[in-house]
Amino acid sequence: MALVSTGAVLMSALSSHPLPQAQSSERARAFRVTPILPEAAPKSKPRPRAPLLAGRYAIDRYLDKGGTSKVYIGWDRVTEQEVVIKILTDEAARCSVLRGHFLIGSRAALAVHHQNVVKTLAVRDPTPGTPYMVMELLRGELMADLLSRKAKLGVRASLLIALQVAEGLAAMHAAGIVHCDIKPDNLFLTSAAGNAKRLKLLDFGLAEVSGQGVKTEVHAVRGTAQYMAPEQVLGDPVDARTDIYALGAVMFRMLTGQLPFDLKLSATLLRHQLFSPTPPPSWLCDELDPSIDAMVMKAMRKNPANRYGSARELVKDLELVLDGRAPRSSFELGAPERYTPQSALGERAAAMLGRG
Ligand SMILES: Nc1ncnc2c1ncn2[C@@H]1O[C@H](COP(=O)(O)OP(=O)(O)O)[C@@H](O)[C@H]1O
Ligand SMILES: [Mg+2]
Repeated sequence: MALVSTGAVLMSALSSHPLPQAQSSERARAFRVTPILPEAAPKSKPRPRAPLLAGRYAIDRYLDKGGTSKVYIGWDRVTEQEVVIKILTDEAARCSVLRGHFLIGSRAALAVHHQNVVKTLAVRDPTPGTPYMVMELLRGELMADLLSRKAKLGVRASLLIALQVAEGLAAMHAAGIVHCDIKPDNLFLTSAAGNAKRLKLLDFGLAEVSGQGVKTEVHAVRGTAQYMAPEQVLGDPVDARTDIYALGAVMFRMLTGQLPFDLKLSATLLRHQLFSPTPPPSWLCDELDPSIDAMVMKAMRKNPANRYGSARELVKDLELVLDGRAPRSSFELGAPERYTPQSALGERAAAMLGRG
């Protein structure tokens, strides 16, 4: 199996097609120049000779590098506002899978207007040129950076963040978008002066949009291994419940400071994602109430039929628990708790991993 790592993992499972090598987001963080924007950075027009995209968006300064893109602060000459311009790297733009998902995900996100999803302002695919998207500029910090400082976040803070992620996901799912890469690197905590932190979902670069498949010769598995549900590990069809699994893993990490399967990317990690039951987070953090254990474990069940059916359902439970009440969902298993591959390729991949 060829394995290619991006900020997300891109595996050309069961295929010998080479896919471009991009930097992992962990590595990318080491190169970061200005990862955290000050809360009240002055709005400034860019240098007069800044490169101009579409005659409208002036690229002012480098902000960050993700797994597949470079991100700049720019200036929208029409609205006279600072914006963020995310441009696919040349390498990612040459890969039909990454290019396709970037474009369909970002275009679909244009229709999502929700306080927990970054606002997409424009998506362009110039010829000749490299696809890019324009977004609102967020000030604050990535959850990945917060977690690298604090390890775990405390129960109430974790639940409040999970609630906002679930709200953002519900809005994306209502627009037919499965994010497919929910992880701390793609969750941004804004901090407008004087206001409580608000979480925003970022990065639609791996998204699936209903009715809009990406044509490719390559059977590519996309995602970030530590947060990938079994169906994503096997390259099977994904749906809202795939994002719920990833959110369960994020909750586990915020609550305990660790991942349920805390291994470097390897077949062993994928095998655990596929076959091993999620351990109760309370094994690692004894202040956790059994209802929180139950919620995380339900989000991370192997069989999607046993998970929360929608982000909205998880929102309800989180609200109740934050209010000191019992969750409303049933935690009984409705179906056998194992993942059944949905395709011949998935079956072969599961068999290969199972043998390991
Ligand atoms: N709207 C934004 N405002 C501020 N920073 C952003 C914004 N969008 C992206 N970034 C920064 O750029 C990084 C990479 O963006 P992301 O969309 O995750 O790209 P990739 O798909 O390459 O991972 C993020 O981790 C974040 O630090
Ligand atoms: Mg990202």
